[in-house]
Amino acid sequence: MKTYKIGVMGGDGTGPEVTVEAVKVMEAAAAKFGFKVEQTEYDFGGERYKRTGEILPDGAVDELKKQDAILLGAIGHPDIKPGILEKGLLLRMRFEMDQYINLRPVRLFPGVETPLKDKGPKEIDYVVVRENSGDIYTGSGGLMMENTPHEVATQTAVYTRFQIDRALKYAFEYARKHGKKARGVGDENTVGLVGKTNVLTYVYGLWERAFHEMGERDYPDIRRDYYHVDATCMWMVKSPEWFDVLVTGNLFGDIITDLGAMTQGGMGIAAGGNINPEGVSMFEPIGGSAPKYTGMGVINPLAAICAMQMMLETLGEDEAAKKIDAAVRDVTANKLKSLAAKQMGYTTSDVGDMVAERVAD
Ligand code: IPM
Ligand code: MN
Repeated sequence: MKTYKIGVMGGDGTGPEVTVEAVKVMEAAAAKFGFKVEQTEYDFGGERYKRTGEILPDGAVDELKKQDAILLGAIGHPDIKPGILEKGLLLRMRFEMDQYINLRPVRLFPGVETPLKDKGPKEIDYVVVRENSGDIYTGSGGLMMENTPHEVATQTAVYTRFQIDRALKYAFEYARKHGKKARGVGDENTVGLVGKTNVLTYVYGLWERAFHEMGERDYPDIRRDYYHVDATCMWMVKSPEWFDVLVTGNLFGDIITDLGAMTQGGMGIAAGGNINPEGVSMFEPIGGSAPKYTGMGVINPLAAICAMQMMLETLGEDEAAKKIDAAVRDVTANKLKSLAAKQMGYTTSDVGDMVAERVAD
């Protein structure tokens, strides 16, 4: 029997509660589809940092790299200054495991309310391939003449051709396999590059050149579009049906996927995968730790369940992944009153149970 080693990291706030539900559904899928999961729990996060002063112990990343995949709840603690855990834990894991893709589907599930007027699951159905290893995230910059009236702050967006090419390649390959034509819901598979070539002429100029070069050479079957990032925000609201696979840099990808998440029903459902296609990937709900709801059993675990679903898909458990997807859709369509915390009409663990039952069925 195929056995997967899964690192489970509940993290902060409501992270552990939603992770328990994702694991519940994963176990139901394992039993149903005949694979085994060997879990190792890690207690990294704000509480441990407060207790020990240590964010990621030495050797932790090497240890994580021995897993087949990692399931993460949420990182972020109200008592800890912003930036410490984010940089010291989440970004460090992404960088050290070279999870250079952040895959974020924007899909409206049936029965879920969207703030977009006259749009439904057919219109809101695309993915964002967010480059996850470079850009303004890598710490280039600093302060000069600190605490004087002439203080200077810089923070530099840096991209290498290598980083851009590997992200583009992932996006094109993804479009070929999972684009709208590949899924039988459209006439073409399309990759849209999201940039800002009118101002960030160096960085997005390079992205654009690389995009067309690679597309023309290796992916002539895939349609190429280009959007400025500001206009992208507009179209994400006005005409999301134009999109299939979007690819962009780290910062733009961060920003537009929060907007995307709201259009798909909010943070309760939005999942992402930090993917190293040649290594160990880490899957997480994108919504954060929601500390004010901690321990109340009112947070929506579907984002964590969907993150776990992406994990199984990435590991190659396609049948299990499809079944979980169908189970989640059935629960959103027929059970939940709302996806928002406290308003689901069910507890966190009820929702996990309902999905697990449907997967086992
Ligand atoms: C995300 C988050 C992180 C990011 C933060 C917590 C560092 O906003 O995963 O989107 O900016 O990547
Ligand atoms: Mn974000």
